Amino acid sequence: MSEAISNRIRDLLIVGAGGSGREVAWLARDIYGSNIELTFAVEPEFSVTDAIDDIPVISLDDRISRKFSHYVIAVGDGAQRKRLSTLCNKLGMQPLTLVHPSVIRSSRVEIDDGSIVCAGSILTTNVKIGRHVHVNIACTLSHDVTVDDFSTLSPSVHISGNVRTGSGVFLGAGANVINGKAGLPLVIGCDAVVAAGACVTRNVQPDTLVAGVPAVLKRSRSRDAV
Ligand SMILES: CC(C)(COP(=O)(O)OP(=O)(O)OC[C@H]1O[C@@H](n2cnc3c(N)ncnc32)[C@H](O)[C@@H]1OP(=O)(O)O)[C@@H](O)C(=O)NCCC(=O)NCCS
Repeated sequence: MSEAISNRIRDLLIVGAGGSGREVAWLARDIYGSNIELTFAVEPEFSVTDAIDDIPVISLDDRISRKFSHYVIAVGDGAQRKRLSTLCNKLGMQPLTLVHPSVIRSSRVEIDDGSIVCAGSILTTNVKIGRHVHVNIACTLSHDVTVDDFSTLSPSVHISGNVRTGSGVFLGAGANVINGKAGLPLVIGCDAVVAAGACVTRNVQPDTLVAGVPAVLKRSRSRDAV
């Protein structure tokens, strides 16, 4: 769903009804105005209240596709977004891309389906954002940055030029990434986690956790086995 086509959107299913869901509701209303009809969906195993912040809450099941044409996943965890987007696509809904009107970006910024870019972020030039990426409030992305599918940039993440993230990467609040070189980007590997406040100064291996200034390896798996 390109952003141009999305101008005609009249209703939207927001998958997830927690803090991220309520923030996405605000984002959608800032883009489409108060007349857009919003609905939260939660997975069947969660108990369903009637409404949150006056927005109805329903269960995410196969009856949904008959009512809604467009969805956005408002869940902070990229792996969960991947699973839920597969489910929503199977139900026949289209992912919607949401970019807040206050976002500053050049014409050389590409943002793929289902991604959100929140208020106050700045994306300069030759920036590519994959599918179902969350760019939270007040992030900056400089030239020649690629953020791959299902990655999450928490509030106030700053990525300098010539950086590439793999899919499913998580950057905690206030993390900074220094620049790579033209033709030799700094790479943060798939499913890596960068702790809040870290400063990444060199490549990060896939599925690792790094933290601190400068960021150092804390664990060779990004998430502890449960
Ligand atoms: C990185 C993070 C996910 C790790 O959580 P975790 O898997 O529970 O890991 P732990 O708390 O066991 O920490 C592992 C190690 O990293 C260190 N660490 C964790 N977060 C850190 C941080 N922000 N800065 C520096 N070190 C940190 C811990 O002290 C620990 O170090 P040690 O092994 O030397 O004792 C979490 O600390 C974090 O920073 N989350 C970001 C939250 C955020 O930005 N949310 C935004 C929501 S919009």
